[in-house]
Amino acid sequence: MHALRQFAAHAAVASSMASSALALPSSSSSSSAVTADAACNATLTLTWPGWPGIKYAFIFGDSYTQTGFNYTSPSPPTQDNPLGNPKYPGWTSSNGPNWVDYLTVKYNASRLQTYNLAYGGATVDSDIVKPYMPTVLSVKDQVHSQFLPGYTSHGNSDLDTSSVHPSAPDAPAWQGNNSVFAVWIGINDIGNSFWLNNVTDINTKIFAVYADLVGLLYNAGARNFVFLTVPPVDRSPMMLADTPEARASEKMDIATFNGLVRQLADSLKDEHGDNANVWVVDTQVPFNAVLDNVAAYPQTANLKNTTSYCEAYQHGGLKPDSFNATCGVPVNEYFWLNSLHPTYPIHDVVAEEISKALVAGPNVCGTTSTGTATGTGTTTTSTTTSTSTSTSGGMGSMGGM
Ligand SMILES: *[C@@H]1O[C@H](CO)[C@@H](O)[C@H](O)[C@H]1NC(C)=O
Ligand SMILES: *[C@@H]1O[C@H](CO)[C@@H](O)[C@H](O)[C@H]1NC(C)=O
Ligand SMILES: *[C@@H]1O[C@H](CO)[C@@H](O)[C@H](O)[C@H]1NC(C)=O
Ligand SMILES: *[C@@H]1O[C@H](CO)[C@@H](O)[C@H](O)[C@H]1NC(C)=O
Ligand SMILES: *[C@@H]1O[C@H](CO)[C@@H](O)[C@H](O)[C@H]1NC(C)=O
Ligand SMILES: *[C@@H]1O[C@H](CO)[C@@H](O)[C@H](O)[C@H]1NC(C)=O
Ligand SMILES: *[C@@H]1O[C@H](CO)[C@@H](O)[C@H](O)[C@H]1NC(C)=O
Repeated sequence: MHALRQFAAHAAVASSMASSALALPSSSSSSSAVTADAACNATLTLTWPGWPGIKYAFIFGDSYTQTGFNYTSPSPPTQDNPLGNPKYPGWTSSNGPNWVDYLTVKYNASRLQTYNLAYGGATVDSDIVKPYMPTVLSVKDQVHSQFLPGYTSHGNSDLDTSSVHPSAPDAPAWQGNNSVFAVWIGINDIGNSFWLNNVTDINTKIFAVYADLVGLLYNAGARNFVFLTVPPVDRSPMMLADTPEARASEKMDIATFNGLVRQLADSLKDEHGDNANVWVVDTQVPFNAVLDNVAAYPQTANLKNTTSYCEAYQHGGLKPDSFNATCGVPVNEYFWLNSLHPTYPIHDVVAEEISKALVAGPNVCGTTSTGTATGTGTTTTSTTTSTSTSTSGGMGSMGGM
């Protein structure tokens, strides 16, 4: 099964939301809702032990992120096998490791154990934007039917205490102050809706659910949150084959979507103040940098082809540097493995950027610049999803690539 249809692209440009988000301390001192200030000093809290103090990572997303992890399998993550199952690097869409793999074993500053619930083809909520197959587990499903029952003492909502023990084999005794939660979602939400004339309403609905899901994670104890923006998939071969109008439209929707991601991150910080550490990592920055100039990062310097994919490589499952003469260059010298998914070098860069951001400290300061908790302490929040009926139904096929 090849490239996820559902992908879409986007690109983001949006003036004001420049992308200093990538990490590293920059000078920005603005408290603009869309500026991710590097190192909000005032907001470093006891719940952030520094990157070396993080022991557990919980990950949500789509095929860019999935490794095919089965959370009920008797082969869970351990110190010696940090991603559990399947065998490293897992079932990725990059013909090699993906960013989760690299973050866990290359850019880790501790013996990190990673619980990757991402699922190919995922949207935020299948009831709002339908995935390419009904079996796809949306982020809503990943939270409700996997994370909550698997790794918390809740059932499938924060109000449900019927299940007293986390059900995943060897579920770790994670705490807010030794765990990080990362979400990379939106490519399929955008790809399956950017061309509709009600995309504004769709985005409103998507982000209401996204915020509820993040609220559920918070109420379950999560305190350290990383949100990745949607990369410029309007520059993918799939969209390069489409009309300029379609590309422009998708690019605009991506920019809008990414602005909403930043707003969500700011709101989370505003709501919880010192009880939450929040990052936005803008994947637009490394993707665009490399698509413009492969030498932008050492990991991508050998890329030869950034505009097309080669049919002989598109299904992946090859050796990392597999070569077929019909393609001219080895698979890992193509930026794109197929019409919508990149090969592993850019994943290496994304993981490095995330680790740099984590080392630098939270870069989302909220709109209230004080960093002081505004009456938090106990949970509350917008939580309580409106959804008790997530489309569960087991893992089904892994969908997409
Ligand atoms: C954070 O603190 C460091 C060291 O005290 C300082 O150099 C830096 O300018 C501060 N950053 C911000 C955004 O306040
Ligand atoms: C996940 O693992 C469980 C336990 O081994 C197994 O019953 C289930 O079929 C697996 N799911 C998938 C999709 O492979
Ligand atoms: C990072 O993870 C790898 C693989 O588990 C491990 O060998 C290495 O020691 C870890 N790095 C640190 C700094 O703990
Ligand atoms: C982390 O949180 C737990 C429980 O909330 C607390 O017992 C522990 O002291 C905290 N650890 C650090 C290093 O602050
Ligand atoms: C958007 O339009 C599509 C197609 O007409 C419709 O199926 C969907 O329900 C609409 N969604 C929203 C949120 O309005
Ligand atoms: C990129 O790869 C495609 C597919 O193999 C090929 O047709 C195209 O000429 C290549 N472009 C460059 C700049 O090498
Ligand atoms: C190379 O690609 C062509 C076209 O897809 C295919 O027919 C051929 O079997 C491939 N060669 C090898 C050695 O895989």
